[in-house]
Amino acid sequence: MSQEVRGVVAPGKNEPVRIETIVIPAPGPGEAVVQIQACGVCHTDLHYKQGGISDDFPFLLGHEAAGIVEAVGEGVHDVAPGDFVILNWRAVCGQCRACLRGRPWYCFNTHNAQQKMTLASTGQELSPALGIGAFAEKTLVAAGQCTKVDPRAEAAVAGLLGCGVMAGTGAAINTGNVGRGDSVAVIGCGGVGDAAIAGARLAGAAKIIAVDIDDRKLQTAQKLGATHTVNSQQVDPVAAVRELTSGFGVDVVIEAVGRPETYQQAFYARDLAGTVVLVGVPTPQMKLELPLLDVFGRGGALKSSWYGDCLPSRDFPMLIDLHLQGRLDLGAFVTETIALDDVEKAFERMHHGDVLRSVVVL
Ligand code: APR
Ligand code: ZN
Ligand code: ZN
Repeated sequence: MSQEVRGVVAPGKNEPVRIETIVIPAPGPGEAVVQIQACGVCHTDLHYKQGGISDDFPFLLGHEAAGIVEAVGEGVHDVAPGDFVILNWRAVCGQCRACLRGRPWYCFNTHNAQQKMTLASTGQELSPALGIGAFAEKTLVAAGQCTKVDPRAEAAVAGLLGCGVMAGTGAAINTGNVGRGDSVAVIGCGGVGDAAIAGARLAGAAKIIAVDIDDRKLQTAQKLGATHTVNSQQVDPVAAVRELTSGFGVDVVIEAVGRPETYQQAFYARDLAGTVVLVGVPTPQMKLELPLLDVFGRGGALKSSWYGDCLPSRDFPMLIDLHLQGRLDLGAFVTETIALDDVEKAFERMHHGDVLRSVVVL
């Protein structure tokens, strides 16, 4: 049976979000209805609202979520009603070229729910943000988007692994392959950069240099494991990173801003043959100009990180276990918990850099 719940809808380009009644169909084959317990507010939700991702309004926003499986459709065996799950926006197909080559994080054949959720008032179909739509009491997803984790974890922190925190920790652990004793610099210490710092610490990095233009961000970065901080508005960050590494630069730089100047800093702040991991997302207009002799001469690797190059079924339970053991402070990412009705205001606070994460708790 279909049911009606409350959800946060972006009705049109740059229009304020609205709380609407939405209709959730009963789960069809391969689908699951999840009762949402918590969902973080991410930049991507704001980009949807601004029309920067697609024109398929109205959107049901929210995609960084954890909750309890309420019902599953035919053929669903991996999760069952009552399971505590984190939702992911990359339910890999297992059959495309990327999957078959063992690089499922490059699978663009993501499996989302086939049925549509609709607006109760008009019957209009909703586009769920990143195929999830979790600023709602319940949502409909593909069962493959649900990963079971230890239910002792609080939903407000668990949900963060569904996007930003996974992107950052994965950038350090999976993409950057940070190892014991390595030196690491993280440029941009918002939610994603801080998660990269936490990931680098988990991986055993000896030196972790946090770079940001905002001293408030540098303070939080220290709590998550930064051993040194650099305010790049006050000093040249490349020179500062070199100075902190006997003139060489770091083994791995993680860029978590997404701007040409920070891409450039990342390129030059690493040691010869070092690795640059790009996790900050640029706009289509941005360009980077580099002397070819530097690209050739400095060697190493330039890698982008997609969703932390994660495998949800491997990484979500592992990071939750590390959190429950006290080795990964997911709580540090939650600046505030808010109600569904407060999402619009949370966007403003995010825009002003006041929060690491606002998390809607239901
Ligand atoms: N140099 C250094 N730090 C900067 C600069 C700069 N020129 N400009 C901004 N920053 C810092 C901000 O002060 C902030 O701490 O970068 C951080 C960005 O953090 P958030 O806005 O919270 O964004 P976050 O959620 O961490 O995402 C960062 O990663 O996944 C991508 O799309 C995401 O591109 C975005 C990036
Ligand atoms: Zn695939
Ligand atoms: Zn996100």
